[in-house]
Amino acid sequence: MRRPTAQSLAAASLVTLAAVTVPSAGAQTLHRYADADIALGEKLIAEHACAACHQRKVGGDGSGIYRPKGRVNNPGALRGMVDYCSVELKLQLFPEEVTSIAAVLQRDHYRFPAAHPGAAKP
Ligand code: HEC
Repeated sequence: MRRPTAQSLAAASLVTLAAVTVPSAGAQTLHRYADADIALGEKLIAEHACAACHQRKVGGDGSGIYRPKGRVNNPGALRGMVDYCSVELKLQLFPEEVTSIAAVLQRDHYRFPAAHPGAAKP
């Protein structure tokens, strides 16, 4: 017969449920830096022409320099890299400024997941 059985309907709704549930489970919570000021980070990135220099190196909009799967592969390493660059470039940033820049790069490029829910400090 052509009418769907109760069983096939149940199976179909299970498939639908799975389709709905899986992507939301996959959308992990991203790592958030404590004490980050996103607006400040954006301002500092623009001020210090980070992208202009990266563009000379990798072309495009310069964002190709950010490689989440490379050496900088976790939130601590990202913040450390921003700190290292700021020292090398003699930007004399405050620790909160370094964190804020890292937070913008995290949001826009790296998107590291939170280690586990609640891991981000308040
Ligand atoms: C004078 C040029 C220059 C400027 C200005 C500059 N960078 Fe870079 N940056 C580089 C180069 C070159 C690399 C690649 C180093 C490597 O891969 O060995 C890099 C790499 C990085 C990385 C690591 C990328 C990765 O995933 O491996 C980060 C993060 C970064 N820069 C952040 C910044 C920020 C933030 C600023 C602005 C405050 C900035 N840089 C300004 C030249 C520059």
